[in-house]
Amino acid sequence: MKVITVVSAKGGVGKTTLAANLASVLAARGRRVIVLDLDPQNALRLHFGIPLDSIDGISRATLAGDPWQTVMFDGVDGVTVLPYGAVLEDDRRRFEALIDREPAWLAHSLATLPLDAQDIVIVDTPPGSSVYTRTALTAAHFALNVVLADAASYAAIPLMERMIENYAAPRQDFGGQGYVVNQVDQSRQLSKDVLKVLRNMLGPKVFPGVIHQDEGVSESLACDTTLIHYDPLSQAAADLRACGEWLLSAAGSMQASPRNVA
Ligand SMILES: Nc1ncnc2c1ncn2[C@@H]1O[C@H](COP(=O)(O)OP(=O)(O)OP(=O)(O)O)[C@@H](O)[C@H]1O
Ligand SMILES: [Mg+2]
Repeated sequence: MKVITVVSAKGGVGKTTLAANLASVLAARGRRVIVLDLDPQNALRLHFGIPLDSIDGISRATLAGDPWQTVMFDGVDGVTVLPYGAVLEDDRRRFEALIDREPAWLAHSLATLPLDAQDIVIVDTPPGSSVYTRTALTAAHFALNVVLADAASYAAIPLMERMIENYAAPRQDFGGQGYVVNQVDQSRQLSKDVLKVLRNMLGPKVFPGVIHQDEGVSESLACDTTLIHYDPLSQAAADLRACGEWLLSAAGSMQASPRNVA
């Protein structure tokens, strides 16, 4: 299996949106794709038609000692979804303490799933530094950084670079990192200027296209689905398909871990 961890130093930049839609794009290319939500906001599932009142997910399953197969949902677009789940505050703290004690928890848990070498796991994380991002980077074969073309995203880049340096880069099976610039409004000069600065700073690590700002993104979420499903002819859907192609090739050097090996 290949694990792609979606991260950002800053919140609200579109990690969950990209995790969901890139999963949909890669599934459409015939890959088996599992999306895994490591964010207590438990929002990733909403892109895949999982009912709002569903409480199941990896947090509850882990605390109860249940296998993850019991909380795998068939989502739209043929994507398999592992939600975070709904937990009370005390249980959330217990779950976080467990992950904190065992940074390799995610890698070990994924190894219990019957996945093939070509299967892709996309992990969504909360913004910034947390036990979730640490365990997700500890399991990652590729880290996908989502940024906006604004000064705050630019300034926060070193924070995530340091986390990747600490938790992912030292492993031999880590294939590297890439950047995607999201919510770009080409009519704004500042957006275009910051984009240029980001490209100069990050060089070939950046997806050569961008993901345009598109109202369809929030509309699709309101309809419990992905943009790829909701408005496949939109500009942002075309951007996301191009980004999926780039991701497959950028992450192509990722070493697949053998099935069921811890
Ligand atoms: N390309 C886009 N065009 C328009 N709106 C977008 C786009 N990408 C994301 N959004 C909107 O931006 C908001 C934040 O997106 P999202 O929840 O995916 O970000 P996030 O990085 O996962 O946030 P958090 O850090 O809280 O987890 C949402 O309202 C989403 O609909
Ligand atoms: Mg999110």
